[in-house]
Amino acid sequence: MNLREEIINDILKSLNNEVSKEDVVVESPKERSFGDYAVPCFVFAKKLRKSPIAIAEDIKNNLDESKYEKVEVVSGYLNFFVKKEDLTKYVINKINEEKENYGKSNIGENKTAVIDYSAPNIAKPFGVGHLRSTAIGQAIKNILEKNSYNTVGINHLGDWGTQFGKMICAYKKWGNEEAIRKEPIKELLALYIKFHEEAEKEPSLEDEGRAYFKALENGDEEALMLWKWFRDESLKEFQKTYDLLGISKFDSYNGEAFYLDKMDGVIEELKEKNLLKKDQGAYVVDLEDMPPALIMKKDGATLYMTRDLAAAFYRKKTYNFDEAVYVIGNEQSLHLKQLKAVINKMGHDFANNMHHVNFGMVLQDGKKMSTRKGKTVKLHDVLVEAKDMAKTYIKNADSVDVEEVSRQVGIGAVIYNDLKNYRTNDIEFKLEDVLRFEGETGPYIQYTYARIMSLLKNNELKDIDFEKVEINSYIWNLVFKLYEFNDIIVKAKLGYDPSLLAKYVMDLAQEFNKFYGNCKINDGDDNEKAFKLKVSNSVAIVLKEGLRLLNIDAPEKM
Ligand code: ARG
Repeated sequence: MNLREEIINDILKSLNNEVSKEDVVVESPKERSFGDYAVPCFVFAKKLRKSPIAIAEDIKNNLDESKYEKVEVVSGYLNFFVKKEDLTKYVINKINEEKENYGKSNIGENKTAVIDYSAPNIAKPFGVGHLRSTAIGQAIKNILEKNSYNTVGINHLGDWGTQFGKMICAYKKWGNEEAIRKEPIKELLALYIKFHEEAEKEPSLEDEGRAYFKALENGDEEALMLWKWFRDESLKEFQKTYDLLGISKFDSYNGEAFYLDKMDGVIEELKEKNLLKKDQGAYVVDLEDMPPALIMKKDGATLYMTRDLAAAFYRKKTYNFDEAVYVIGNEQSLHLKQLKAVINKMGHDFANNMHHVNFGMVLQDGKKMSTRKGKTVKLHDVLVEAKDMAKTYIKNADSVDVEEVSRQVGIGAVIYNDLKNYRTNDIEFKLEDVLRFEGETGPYIQYTYARIMSLLKNNELKDIDFEKVEINSYIWNLVFKLYEFNDIIVKAKLGYDPSLLAKYVMDLAQEFNKFYGNCKINDGDDNEKAFKLKVSNSVAIVLKEGLRLLNIDAPEKM
């Protein structure tokens, strides 16, 4: 059953197809008293040369109104009221049959999407910007799967660049193996900072750093071994953060270094197609309406861009993707535009299927957080703090796994706080906000879920005679919300917008709590009671699934 589509078809039929499908807008009125759906008719006025009211009347008269509870004409709008019994029976039965598969869409059937997300930089702290990419990326991956896409999650690690020459140099001079094994990122970062301090006093150090990078690029054994060791140790430390976030693994950890031997093909093709231009010794590709893309430096060194080009071709070849999603901050918008433009210029239209899913900066006191000055909040510490704070919210400490449940609740708070914002907005990173558990927060939704689970614990679910139930406005609002889940799944995919889903689960939890506060579950005859329990169970299923898609766990008890 797809109500929007049915309404559209009914309207097209009533107007003898004098308007097209694209003309029909099916809105969701803010106030349910204006109908479950509303269709503005002024959009047809020009084509049909009639007043919106007359058109609305025409449609209503030609329509099989018995399909609906009622259809009203109100100042140029057609308001549709859905048959409550029919929809209720349909939705509640469907959810209880399909369980967590409810809401699935098939728009991605036989399609593959690669999602490039998280992508922290080796030997640098896993910062809050990367938390955003991780949270948004994981949610988008889950949402794509719910829309039947095959997905490939790629952690495009920042594991190459001149900084590794400096780090190797610093390690050889001042490094301590034991200390790095213990706290790799802290130590490596300290070495990197020391390198810069010393280089200010002794500029020749820069040359040494460059020489080490050259050695690394030329495959020098010792340099490569150190680089690989830094990478392994960093990844081990990153995994601790991923574990807290409940992300066990990515499908691929091919970072920038993976593409070092895959760039020649792209550079060759650029040359062949006469796109590579020499500019003051460097090689660039000229682009329309934007600065040229720098492909190779004067000394022959390749760049972030070159590696991203190689990565795009590699992914197209390896996964034959229908969509490639790059979950990267706003500040790399130009980079992504250039990347797509270069591929387009080479004549490959898969560039049109590459999407920059951008997001806003994380600010601290209105300013961008910086790593250099060591001003960054340590993400891992924040997550641990969130987890610890969550312990105070656990009411059933004697009967739950406190460590695990507090992780679920604490991390749920952090993730929800991020995902509820539309992604392109900058967000202020305030610990108090991130660690909030009341109001529009993850734990509020988790708490609602746990409340339903305890309600259902001592009650069996029974078959219901839907003819006999009373659908009051609280229940109707809930049922209609549940019905809309699939709509949200599709919309969240089309806009790559997890915030739609985050808002949806919040609305659903709030509607449930209104229902729970106003309708006594145990009132009424057996059929009535069984009905209310089944509605509650349906809400629980959808809440849990909605949270899962956002990568938030739903503990049964907390
Ligand atoms: N490591 C990069 C950074 O921290 C993000 C990489 C994003 N992915 C990509 N294909 N460029 O800024």
